[in-house]
Amino acid sequence: VNTRTPLIAGNWKLNLDHLQAIAFVQKLAWSLSDAKHDPSTVEVAVFPPFTDIRSVQTLVAADKLPIAYGAQDVSEHESGAYTGEISATFLRALECGYVIVGHSERRTLHNETDEQIAGKVAAAVAQNVVPVICVGETSDDLEKHGPSAVPVAQLKVALSKISSTADIVVAYEPVWAIGSGQAATPEQAENVAAALREVIRETLGDDVAQKTRILYGGSVKANNIAGFMREPNVDGALVGGASLDLNEFSSIVRYQK
Ligand code: G3P
Repeated sequence: VNTRTPLIAGNWKLNLDHLQAIAFVQKLAWSLSDAKHDPSTVEVAVFPPFTDIRSVQTLVAADKLPIAYGAQDVSEHESGAYTGEISATFLRALECGYVIVGHSERRTLHNETDEQIAGKVAAAVAQNVVPVICVGETSDDLEKHGPSAVPVAQLKVALSKISSTADIVVAYEPVWAIGSGQAATPEQAENVAAALREVIRETLGDDVAQKTRILYGGSVKANNIAGFMREPNVDGALVGGASLDLNEFSSIVRYQK
């Protein structure tokens, strides 16, 4: 039986400064409480820019809001001469529950390699910050290698530096679906999610495979979320554009199976 709590996560990317973040999180909390949101049925998380995290932490802690939060990236290094980097220890100190690792925008625009991503995953896990490991194929990859080959290969490397006690989340984000308005079909997402769960099983064992949440990301909206959530191996969504619109994001959180 699947006992995984669904996770609906908003990746804000380079949007909303710390004042806008405070306003957004406050309104999101009101909307969740109006809707009598029960965090034991769906977990909600936001991923603001680094400079917002301290403000979000203060707000969430002061009002005990049922909203998790995390960073959009982390260094694979612990400390030292790495200008511009943020360590997992710093994220832990701000009580981040999660951190996105290996987003396709980091892979493409910042040339992050699978090896580096594995280092980031290990650094996060070492500080008890749950990595949300992003994998996904481009439309070129899809044509050349089929649907799951690239995400499967990426995940194998990403998991190579952690042990079977690790707490992780995986996000399948086909690059062709990100910000394009062209979401994958629920069936496509399910097939890749099932293949990714198999990789987790082979690498980290059955227990971790059973409990790990696998999210779908790429043009998720209020009008397509329910289809994804009906699939047995899809345990939530990583939402970009639609996570910046309060009404849209709240509707996604309140998806009906
Ligand atoms: O990380 C989430 C993201 O890449 C998906 O973006 O705008 O297609 O929902 P979007």
